[in-house]
Amino acid sequence: MRARVNGVDVAYTDAGQGEAVLLIHGFPLDRTMWDAQVEALAGTRRVIAPDLGGFGESEARSEPVSMEAFADDVRGLLDHLGLPRAVIGGLSMGGYVAFAFARKYAERTRALILCDTRAGADSPEARAGRAEMAALARARGLAPIADRMLPRLLAPATRERRPDVVERVRRMILRAPVAGVVAALGGMAERPDATPGLPAIGCPVLFIVGRHDVISPPAEAEAICAKLPRARRVVIPDAGHLAPMENAAAVNAAIGEFLSPAGGAPPGRTAGA
Ligand code: MLT
Repeated sequence: MRARVNGVDVAYTDAGQGEAVLLIHGFPLDRTMWDAQVEALAGTRRVIAPDLGGFGESEARSEPVSMEAFADDVRGLLDHLGLPRAVIGGLSMGGYVAFAFARKYAERTRALILCDTRAGADSPEARAGRAEMAALARARGLAPIADRMLPRLLAPATRERRPDVVERVRRMILRAPVAGVVAALGGMAERPDATPGLPAIGCPVLFIVGRHDVISPPAEAEAICAKLPRARRVVIPDAGHLAPMENAAAVNAAIGEFLSPAGGAPPGRTAGA
């Protein structure tokens, strides 16, 4: 499916019927990282997964693209679909966008599903690393970025025993357009610290983190959840930073439970839902 949102041509998956769950991919990936969640959830929900501008099949935005601008695109997509609110999920960079969305559009956020993400802003070293990565992508394309990122994105067990997942992630990185990668690196480097706003996030939150995530480790997730009024944290075994791809069954079970009538975010129990 495609929609014109804020002047940008956005590609998205829209599957199933029922309560809307919108899933935002990480960097430098695309909406296909959520394939297993779309398949599992679409039996009982409406699952929407956009390619952020500059990734997958979506048109690039001018650089750098802020996490707020991506959040505006998510709001624009909800408007296009006639959805007043949705459960908003995001992995890593998608989580930065979800934080920005919850900050700007609290009334449209029924619940949050945060995966392997961080609340803090970049350190000066991290910003310098992003500038260096952008220069590398411009000079040599995505192959060296894939080589550099893969060992940190995936748990050792995934790299040793799941060549299918390793290959899917590598191919996803290799097809990411350089312009989109550079624009997102600039936006992530400039993103504000979401930590002071955590106590104001009043909706239910499911925080999923891979046990072996070295980019946004479980301890960091615990610190974020301690500041969120209504958070539940689930540590996913046999997974690193890309838990929804590395251990889809456990992630799907956690999301299914969270969204169930007995879970943290059952339909109708959230104020205003
Ligand atoms: C991601 O997976 O989206 C990235 O690790 C985010 C980042 O580089 O901060």
